[in-house]
Amino acid sequence: MTQISAGERDRADTLASRRDKFILPDGVIYLDGNSLGPVSHTAISRINHAVTHEWAAGLVRSWNSAGWMDLPITLGNRLAPLIGAPADTVIVTDTLTILIAKLLANALALRPDRHVIVTDSDNFHSDFYIADGVAAATRRDITVRRTTRAALAEALDDDVAVVLLTHVDYRTGELLDMADMSALVHAHGALMIWDLAHSTGAVPLHVHEHGADFAAGCGYKYLNGGPGAPAFAYVAPQWLDSLTNFLPGWLGHARPFDFEPTFEKAPGIRALVTSSPSVVGLSALAGALDVFEGISLDVLRRKSLALTDFFITEVEERLPGVFELVTPREHHRRASQVSWRHDEAYGIVQALIARGVIGDFRAPNIARFGFTPLYLSFRDVDVAVSHLVEVMHHREYDDPAFRQKNPVT
Ligand SMILES: Cc1ncc(COP(=O)(O)O)c(C=O)c1O
Repeated sequence: MTQISAGERDRADTLASRRDKFILPDGVIYLDGNSLGPVSHTAISRINHAVTHEWAAGLVRSWNSAGWMDLPITLGNRLAPLIGAPADTVIVTDTLTILIAKLLANALALRPDRHVIVTDSDNFHSDFYIADGVAAATRRDITVRRTTRAALAEALDDDVAVVLLTHVDYRTGELLDMADMSALVHAHGALMIWDLAHSTGAVPLHVHEHGADFAAGCGYKYLNGGPGAPAFAYVAPQWLDSLTNFLPGWLGHARPFDFEPTFEKAPGIRALVTSSPSVVGLSALAGALDVFEGISLDVLRRKSLALTDFFITEVEERLPGVFELVTPREHHRRASQVSWRHDEAYGIVQALIARGVIGDFRAPNIARFGFTPLYLSFRDVDVAVSHLVEVMHHREYDDPAFRQKNPVT
């Protein structure tokens, strides 16, 4: 057994009181905030305010009086410290895949004589699809080269325009070294785009200091902005003036209400905007970000590592040899999730969900558990492992009901 008890760990936890900021159903241990974060009281009150005061009472006047038009920028500036970005380099708009498309198009435009997008062969599938889509949409001979992370150096040559990597592997939870990999890419004259889907709000980020040219992440995972929350994009200060938008729309225009027939981009980061801001979604994210006020990301990170250490140790001690750990053990290579390989992973996750322990499954055989230090306690981890022990001892995953594949896994 682990020497320090869950209770002792919880008593020493300076983040414990943040749990009260969230609404979590009784009897649920939520280990899936890396997929969809839970709702916070501040998110609900911001949504209510946006709907009942700004929309219902203010009507169309709220575009001016409630600052709706500036929400992508004001929210970008609130998010900037969470990713280590300077002011006015972050925008909140669209969804992650769309923003990656816009950033890829920018990077290709900045390297007009190069023809290759490099990406990780274990990347998230949406990143593959959109990279292929952007390559096909440019009227240039662009190819997408997939490589393993280990072979990244060999995949780089003087024809590579841009490298697109996801900072945390969505299956394994492996955390990549942003500074080292960005430097390697720059040494070959290429630009670096980071997908921060599984790192924002979970690990301290330093996009500016660590050499990201561009980055983007989503609002609905560790930021808890709600299902389908708007995403964000970061553009390094040196690329702001040359920023283009290959999906231009009226609200990325320098003067949208002049209704000019030709496009002239807005200055700075606003050039990435295409359409009307999704006000209710942005308000939810604004409220969700309130929860991060006054929190040190280093403290968050320490608790995250302590939670995942505790989970790994408990599972390995109480279920020896049952699972294969696919998440790196080294702290500097581990983000905020723990993934186990097991042939029955799907049924195991379903049996756990039936017991109120919510994780998820990633094909072909991975049971994935996310750890959000803002609302999880060490006792939660202890109880979750006890449920896992029961599921395994009684082979609950054999129940045909748990073998039925849901559309969302
Ligand atoms: C690593 C990664 N990239 C991209 C996406 C796609 O995000 P969106 O649905 O906002 O386009 C996801 C979604 O989970 C993701 O995990």
